[in-house]
Amino acid sequence: MTTTQDPVAAAEQCTAEFRRNPHPVYASLRDTAPVCPMKPPHGLETYLITRYEDARAALSDPRLSKDMYGAVDSYRRIFGDSSVSLDDNMLNADAPKHTRLRKLVNAEFTPRRVEALRPKIQDVVDELLDACPTREPVDLLPAFAFPLPITVICELLGVPPEERPHMQRLSTTVAQTGFSKESKQAQQKAELDLHAYFTQLIARKREHPSDDLLSALTEVHDKDGGLTENELVSTAFLLMFAGHKTTAYLIGNSVHHFLANPAQLRAVQENPELVGTAVEELLRYDGSVESATFRFATEDVEIGGTRIPKGALVQISLLSANRDPRKFDCPDEFDITRQGAQNGHLGFGHGSHYCLGAPLARLEMQLALTSLFSRFPKLAPADPAAEPKWMEVPFPAFRGLAELPVV
Ligand code: HEM
Repeated sequence: MTTTQDPVAAAEQCTAEFRRNPHPVYASLRDTAPVCPMKPPHGLETYLITRYEDARAALSDPRLSKDMYGAVDSYRRIFGDSSVSLDDNMLNADAPKHTRLRKLVNAEFTPRRVEALRPKIQDVVDELLDACPTREPVDLLPAFAFPLPITVICELLGVPPEERPHMQRLSTTVAQTGFSKESKQAQQKAELDLHAYFTQLIARKREHPSDDLLSALTEVHDKDGGLTENELVSTAFLLMFAGHKTTAYLIGNSVHHFLANPAQLRAVQENPELVGTAVEELLRYDGSVESATFRFATEDVEIGGTRIPKGALVQISLLSANRDPRKFDCPDEFDITRQGAQNGHLGFGHGSHYCLGAPLARLEMQLALTSLFSRFPKLAPADPAAEPKWMEVPFPAFRGLAELPVV
């Protein structure tokens, strides 16, 4: 893979060409600057890691902290601050706090609870596909990929159906990735409103508990007690945030790559049992989480022979690691039969912060793709000659399409 762009500048600035196809830039960085110092628009000294082994090592290195808000003042200045925080959850914590929060949530977010959602997920998939027009083009992102995971998370948490649109609007605003003053102000206002919403939802769950996850989390405790009020609110937000765009974009990327690879599409249509390895391959080949969430170095750390100075941000490209030829044979080939040792992808991360929702995401993906391709065996791009439009973002957090028109 080659690129005509300056790879460091392209990754720093997230240029339009880089958004369209970041893989040649990452290939070049893996070869020439695998742990690369950069100055992205947010202005903080950042090191980008692009090789598989370095990425895997960094993801489980305790010297790279996730406790951004506690420790880096400049990070707080750039990414925003507010009087209430939705960040008091496991994703933003190091051990021992991380261990405690994850254990408490794990005690209730069990494989049994995920499996119990299977019929409900299938119902939501069927309802959304029933509503898709069969004769004219439809954009599958708003029609299918986005509403599916958010409805599933609302079911999981026990958000009443009539309150979902309000909560989803707030959650979308909080999760936006702009650095401008206006965008940060809108984010902070939505954060306050969302905090207030979850606080009163939790109060209702305490008064009238049901069999949903949020009710269970209000009661879970270990020898040191349960989740504090703010940890509960922040965990509800984390589940909402972590399980929505990630799954939605992966559904979009998956459909796009299947339609671009008709032989692979035929293979999964003729052998639906391949859907499990297909989802793993999609997580590797063009997963929806382009970079893991930022870490920062609590001391000087050497990775891949490069010294990352204390205080620097570390950006780990999962997308690049998953295409590293040092790890994968023919990494740029989309092959849904790739499995086992051939696919140790990092699409769900690695180490202590490994995706807590991976079993739910796998189940949603498998049901979504199986139903879509069996209900619409002749699914095709609305305009086969059109270039795919990838989402524009100020830094590469998610990898997803801006639209997915199909017939
Ligand atoms: C963490 C990917 C779906 C909940 C993560 C991480 C990745 C990831 C890469 C690690 C981030 C890091 O280390 O910086 C994905 C992808 C998904 C998906 C690709 C869909 C295809 C979900 C779902 C849920 C969920 C459906 C739950 C409803 C979480 C949580 C964490 C996490 C709670 C934080 C774990 C911790 O800090 O210990 N996810 N995720 N994710 N994910 Fe997912």
